Amino acid sequence: MAKDKTLFTCTECGGTSLRWLGKCPSCNAWNTLIESVAEAGPGKNRYSGTQFAGLAQAQAVMPLAAIEATDIARTPSGIDELDRVLGGGIVEGGVVLIGGDPGIGKSTLLLQALDALQRAGLPTLYVTGEESGAQVALRSRRLGLDHSQVNVLAEIQLEKILATIESMQPAVAVIDSIQTVYSDQLTSAPGSVAQVRECAAHLTRCAKASGVAIVLVGHVTKEGALAGPRVLEHMVDTVLYFEGDTHSQFRLVRAIKNRFGAVNEIGVFAMTEKGLKGVSNPSAIFLSQHSEPVPGSCVMVTLEGTRPLLVEIQALVDSGGPSPRRLSVGLDKDRLAMLLAVLHRHAGVACMDQDVFVNAVGGVRISEPAADLAVMLAITSSLRGKALPQGFIAFGEVGLAGEVRPAPRGQERLREAAKLGFSVAVVPKANAPKKPIEGLTIHAVERVEEAMNVVRGMG
Ligand code: TYD
Ligand code: MG
Repeated sequence: MAKDKTLFTCTECGGTSLRWLGKCPSCNAWNTLIESVAEAGPGKNRYSGTQFAGLAQAQAVMPLAAIEATDIARTPSGIDELDRVLGGGIVEGGVVLIGGDPGIGKSTLLLQALDALQRAGLPTLYVTGEESGAQVALRSRRLGLDHSQVNVLAEIQLEKILATIESMQPAVAVIDSIQTVYSDQLTSAPGSVAQVRECAAHLTRCAKASGVAIVLVGHVTKEGALAGPRVLEHMVDTVLYFEGDTHSQFRLVRAIKNRFGAVNEIGVFAMTEKGLKGVSNPSAIFLSQHSEPVPGSCVMVTLEGTRPLLVEIQALVDSGGPSPRRLSVGLDKDRLAMLLAVLHRHAGVACMDQDVFVNAVGGVRISEPAADLAVMLAITSSLRGKALPQGFIAFGEVGLAGEVRPAPRGQERLREAAKLGFSVAVVPKANAPKKPIEGLTIHAVERVEEAMNVVRGMG
């Protein structure tokens, strides 16, 4: 009886209850109890079959040095930019969650990766819950994968999917998408947090027990969270997010968590009519092409992961109503409010009665504070209706006291800008290189007002 096994688990503290309650009886948090399945049988607990299984049993205490460190075996997926974000390739028994807006290219990328793996002689399985086998076949033809040997299963019931994975033992299985998978054991509707979480947990267990690498595709909700509010992120080994504007050609895949590699590494792709193609030299793709410098635009060098990227920050300052709007796309909204306050207080630039919009070009998301200086310069440039000089770049974090703080690996950023033909830079003092960089005039500043003066002096 499915009902007998139902249990409600708190997403905050892990406490359980036999019926649904608004408030968790253990930690008193509200609305955190979700339906789950109680594991029956002696010797079983919630950790059986997971990577924590070893922890759940009594173990002898050992010094760290005495524990053998086994190297992780990775299989390159055959798509360089994807391998880069994965930290070298797909790991045996590893679980990857790949999220992104609908239509951004998740299915396309994974089908291409599976085909490359299959060609390399590894058995693969593509479980489709959103599209029929015929639709997947149509996509593969479009991608030019006419004789693809990738095994396709159109199925959404968890138990059947697990049985197929266990009997077939592929090297890699893709579940597209986790939101469509449901288990008969739960009464909740498919796509609900309880279903998504429980199904992901079972698939994770299956991956750890069988050594099959599993890739879960997850949709992002309107609020920008993976449906099943982030509950999947802690369960899996690697979390990748697709970024980029569906209207532009370029897509970024970013690792935000990786137990087997560096985080914040990015892979860059271009969507072509033959699927996603890796862009190996991506530094200049997030610049819009102005023939003449325009007001409200400032280029910055961002360094997330290992590669510097030049990104154009645009601002539009326009007279607003009684409660002016502040809007940012691709940049932190709270930080924008803070930067406007700093601009007013320390540089005397007032935008109180103005609408302020800022945007990072190309749908890229910049989370590092090194964007601060470029955002402020773009805003000031728009407010004054005066363009920054040709070939201008800026970066640096700005503090509440108006100080300009250094960005990590400043030299690398400057060298990349010089390589792409930029000629003037305003950077934090601590980032100014000791040796001059050919072709680049560098203005090192310690304070916001200094940066504003430098720019004003450029005429
Ligand atoms: P898709 O991979 O289905 O996105 P997701 O699985 O993330 O929802 O599709 C991505 C979009 O890319 C789709 O709108 C059509 C387009 N596309 C191309 O431009 N070229 C191609 O070769 C393919 C297969 C899709
Ligand atoms: Mg899809």
